[in-house]
Amino acid sequence: MKKKIAVLAGDGIGPEVMAQALRILEALEKKYGMTIDKHPADVGGIAIDNHGKALPESTIKTCEESDAILFGSVGGPKWEKLPPEQQPERGALLPLRKHFQLFANLRPAIVFKGLASASPLKAEIIGDELDVLVVRELTGGLYFGQPKYREGDKAVDTMVYTKAEIERIAHVAFQAARQRGKKLCSIDKANVLTTMVFWREIVTEVGKQYPDVQLSHMYVDNAAMQLIRNPRQFDVLLCENMFGDILSDEASMIAGSLGMLPSASLAQSPQGTAGSFGLFEPSGGSAPDIAGQGIANPIAQILSTGMMFQYAFGMPQAYQDVHQAVSKVLSQGHRTRDIATPGQKTVGTAEMGDLILKALT
Ligand code: IPM
Ligand code: MN
Repeated sequence: MKKKIAVLAGDGIGPEVMAQALRILEALEKKYGMTIDKHPADVGGIAIDNHGKALPESTIKTCEESDAILFGSVGGPKWEKLPPEQQPERGALLPLRKHFQLFANLRPAIVFKGLASASPLKAEIIGDELDVLVVRELTGGLYFGQPKYREGDKAVDTMVYTKAEIERIAHVAFQAARQRGKKLCSIDKANVLTTMVFWREIVTEVGKQYPDVQLSHMYVDNAAMQLIRNPRQFDVLLCENMFGDILSDEASMIAGSLGMLPSASLAQSPQGTAGSFGLFEPSGGSAPDIAGQGIANPIAQILSTGMMFQYAFGMPQAYQDVHQAVSKVLSQGHRTRDIATPGQKTVGTAEMGDLILKALT
């Protein structure tokens, strides 16, 4: 099998953790006898420096010619004074989502065995292992709804969802739940917002096609509370764009470190559900405070690479390989600084890459 990917390492720790992810990717290429052409392109702050904008046309073109986008992270203090819409985060990520219609965002929050101590929640709340998947709608709602403008003493954003938009993300969530714990909790604010009454109706309707998945509904404020009180009650959470933005950060913190969590943002397939083209990125940011020191945790970038094999290349086994290798290294007690308990010995970015590579092969 031959594939082509765009490698957008970006800013901050992006290039360091990407370097480790690419070593894992090469090991998987060998293992599965495939060839992956890797095309680097600038994105974020480095693209502003080199091309004058966070998402240059040349980068979009490289992505268009690829089967998937492997993304690092963007942003840093150097570009914080630019107008918000030109800054690396908004200037690159939102246009990429829009351009490629990456409507389905999958954000797993996993606490690996033995890592419960990295979570700010008590060990008995986390239990042995925690595995919650946030499915976030990524191209609609308040982020992109029109009208959106500022005029004198007034500013407007619009919350809008069509039936088709809700249906397609609901199918993604039900299908994910079907392959996991078979429980789906749809998050809304149907006690206040008209769009969310509609959301609940459509999700319930779609649910009739998935009698094997147990569907429940929860208001977003309650969900924020329940995630802290008892996160293990959840399997898959289905959220509209902004609720998913907020709850996925909360879920990731429960997992202890943003440095652990991968994500996939998928485009629509010709059949109308989540297709194979997507952008795969760690949930954490560019962490400029620790960039260049060789201490960043590469696990999120490595797991994101695993998700790329699963979703973009249809190779779930490759994701399992990566997951197991990470799990093994962690169970042997190896820790980067962000997930270590005080006094524990730590390894750097490249050493963590070495260990995972060894566990994989
Ligand atoms: C995320 C980020 C983005 C979002 C920002 C950087 C535009 O917070 O991916 O969750 O709000 O979606
Ligand atoms: Mn966010």
